[in-house]
Amino acid sequence: MPPASALLDWYDAHRRSLPWRAPTGAIADPYHVWISEVMLQQTTVTAVIPYYHRFLGRFPTVEALARAPLDDVLAAWSGLGYYSRARNLYRCAQELAALGRFPRDVDSLRALPGIGAYTSAAIAAIAFGAPVVPVDGNVERIAARVFAVEAPLPAARTLIAKKAVTLNREKAARARPSDFAQALFDLGAGVCTPRTPACMTCPWNEACAARQQGLQGDLPRKAPK
Ligand code: ADE
Repeated sequence: MPPASALLDWYDAHRRSLPWRAPTGAIADPYHVWISEVMLQQTTVTAVIPYYHRFLGRFPTVEALARAPLDDVLAAWSGLGYYSRARNLYRCAQELAALGRFPRDVDSLRALPGIGAYTSAAIAAIAFGAPVVPVDGNVERIAARVFAVEAPLPAARTLIAKKAVTLNREKAARARPSDFAQALFDLGAGVCTPRTPACMTCPWNEACAARQQGLQGDLPRKAPK
């Protein structure tokens, strides 16, 4: 198992400052986490930032979003594409406004419209400190490499996700669920990149089974189309 403390130390030194991230030690607003995670599912971090600021400026709270006309929400989303996400976001805002608060646990979050396994885990970990690992494409790639999963995607997706959620088994990871999740995103975005991973600077290089076998650039494999 790759050492959680090495990843967290690396994150403390290299953490990206992003508009939806709380300052070190502070707790992120679940509304901010939710909006950013939905935007980041379809668009890169750099492209999301201006949309994120504009959207939060226009709809600063769940209540403001729930009260706004749907057309205003769709207009604020235009450019991001995938309007079904904006419609789901809007429906979810109505439910949240009716609830009067954000549910704190993964299962209740997941029961909300448009919130799947990834988004529920991201909100629970980042905003509420639940010891869960949100598995997106970055985290999937890291797990496939660290555990040297040779089976190709998409068939191996479930297997890789099962391994990915074990990455936080150590106490050090479970003590900082929000940082641990975001450290994985940053590692995937900046170090454990798709084609030419920067293993020299990776806090998990010694523990990485793919690297030990010289397979780091080949995993995860993809089944031929
Ligand atoms: N990719 C997905 N979620 C992210 C986040 N919260 N920060 C940076 N990159 C991400």
